Amino acid sequence: MITNPLIDEYISKIIPARSPLLSRLETEAAAEGIPIIQLPAAQVLRSLLLLHQPRSILEVGTAIGYSTIWLAEAAPQAKIVTMELDESRIERARANFREAGITERIELIAGDATQGLPDTYSFDCLFIDAAKGQYRVFLDLYLPLLNENGLLICDNVLFRGLVASPEEASKRQRPLVDKLDRLNLWLMEHPELETSIIPVGDGISVSLKRTNTNKTSEKNP
Ligand SMILES: C[S@@+](CC[C@H](N)C(=O)[O-])C[C@H]1O[C@@H](n2cnc3c(N)ncnc32)[C@H](O)[C@@H]1O
Repeated sequence: MITNPLIDEYISKIIPARSPLLSRLETEAAAEGIPIIQLPAAQVLRSLLLLHQPRSILEVGTAIGYSTIWLAEAAPQAKIVTMELDESRIERARANFREAGITERIELIAGDATQGLPDTYSFDCLFIDAAKGQYRVFLDLYLPLLNENGLLICDNVLFRGLVASPEEASKRQRPLVDKLDRLNLWLMEHPELETSIIPVGDGISVSLKRTNTNKTSEKNP
């Protein structure tokens, strides 16, 4: 965990009760070891969407649809495209979307998100929460589809805090930790992005896409 467990527990305890469906998905995910966004991070995601009011969202990494339902609740005006490659999770996500009554607003794309989408798609918000080692691939594919003033959110960018203390990573974790470190720097320095990293959940990055950031004008006065 990257946060003080007591504080995390406290925040999780006072977050308003979720719908019976979301509560059930939390229980199922915990019991089956399905990785879903941590509750305090989901609540931050909700606040960001309530502020931003996107009309179109791309989510990379649906799993069983838990975060998709959070997105759909926080942005009731939005159409959501969500991508997942695990067949059994796709089936469960479809059933969960039916139960949540959001099927008409969701396009669930079954397949590998590294294959990209046609450029007829465009989005007001991107939420990246799939294979951590492939975030740069996803961003190279989908950042061009994010509209001006669009919101980009990536989950797990602090990876259990190991990006800040790489010496504590195991030999197996180290390549991923180094990749995430490079990703965070890229997000911070990207000329079209204004990025903050929020130490909540497993760490989320929040970026606003602006073609005319100060960074751009400083480099190209
Ligand atoms: C962390 S889980 C997503 C959790 C979900 N966003 C939530 O919070 O409820 C990551 C998911 O991404 C999927 N995934 C990994 N690589 C992918 C890829 N290249 N294309 C599509 N889905 C992928 C995995 O199968 C897994 O279900």
